[in-house]
Amino acid sequence: MSEVQALQGRHIVLGLSGGVACYKAAELTRLLVKAGATVQVVMTEAAQQFITPVTMQALSGRPVAASQWDAREPNNMAHINLSRQADAILVAPASADFIARLAQGRADELLSLLCLARPIEHCPLLLAPAMNREMWAHPATQRNVAQVAADGARLLGPAAGDQACGEIGDGRMLEAAELCDELIAFFQPKLLAGRRLLVTAGPTFEAIDPVRGITNLSSGKMGFAIARAAAEAGAEVTLVAGPVALATPRGVVRIDVQSAEQMLAAVLPQARRHDVFVATAAVADWRPAQSAAQKIKKDGSGQPPALAFVENPDILASVARLPAAERPWCVGFAAESHDVLAHARQKRVRKGVPLIVANNGPATFGRDDNELVLVDADGEQALPRGDKLTLARQLVIEIARRMAAQGGA
Ligand code: C5P
Repeated sequence: MSEVQALQGRHIVLGLSGGVACYKAAELTRLLVKAGATVQVVMTEAAQQFITPVTMQALSGRPVAASQWDAREPNNMAHINLSRQADAILVAPASADFIARLAQGRADELLSLLCLARPIEHCPLLLAPAMNREMWAHPATQRNVAQVAADGARLLGPAAGDQACGEIGDGRMLEAAELCDELIAFFQPKLLAGRRLLVTAGPTFEAIDPVRGITNLSSGKMGFAIARAAAEAGAEVTLVAGPVALATPRGVVRIDVQSAEQMLAAVLPQARRHDVFVATAAVADWRPAQSAAQKIKKDGSGQPPALAFVENPDILASVARLPAAERPWCVGFAAESHDVLAHARQKRVRKGVPLIVANNGPATFGRDDNELVLVDADGEQALPRGDKLTLARQLVIEIARRMAAQGGA
């Protein structure tokens, strides 16, 4: 998904301590810069055994800071200057040794020194651990990790998987793209903290036989962007997705379904335990009355098979009809090809939901950008054309505002 510069104006100190995962820091620097951040790289001596300051300078566009004795700083206080300028310090990779140093408040090299010298209230410290699984599991490391977390550091990962040493387990550093997403999410206002949000996304697939079916051109991008934006805003998010090949946003619980009936069966029990329901899925209106157990073959007569259709359940309307105590705050989408606003207004009343998000179906299906109009009881509000993630973040703000105005769901 194309990413508008979500880190525009942010100054990130990216610290590298020693570990094979230093190779991922190069890609991470690129992604942070692409997202609009300025990146000041700080490397320990050990990190320079794994990747050179030349690479990191070229990618960040700034000389790497590597020594607390660097006389180029006019006041000779690199640790103060670096930590005062930063919106956040991200140490990736954070080695077992580096975390141990932080836990002890050591300050005998530049990176741990500037972490210690940072103004704790203004300059968050994020750590992406990277180490062998035995090192990660060792009680000393676990003790140190608990200590640095108690001291205010935020841990990103580690993940489980293949390790450079050939072993498999916990301790892998998150991938560069995951770390970049974590940092972007970190800076989003937590407008939905404590809320639970349920989203449907993508098309449905209504089987004709085991190899064929009817579906539509929905890509799922808008719904996935809403799930991501809500998770970034601090919500617990469940995403019920039709058949799409999109990556699950970090921190989101995903339930995959195929048909409208399966989507309804997944949504209904979940709806009661969520505060907000956003129906972005392009649910097929009809399904074949019967789905053949075996592939329907040509019979040589030249006659196509006669297909009969039945109407699918309306998932959004079903949720909106739940008793008030069990009903989440409902948001519907209206993808129309003409008279978009008039249809959206009617749909809002017909489905009994407080908010409908109108868009032009043919102009948005499959695309990365969109243009939305929010239709509620008070009137209309346009969200101008933008990439779907930016629009999703704006929609999250609008949902949070309306819920707060109503005193919550
Ligand atoms: O009736 P229409 O399909 O135009 O309504 C669109 C809205 O209703 C969307 O929010 C869509 O996710 C939802 N919907 C649904 N179940 C259906 C049809 C639509 O949840 N069977």
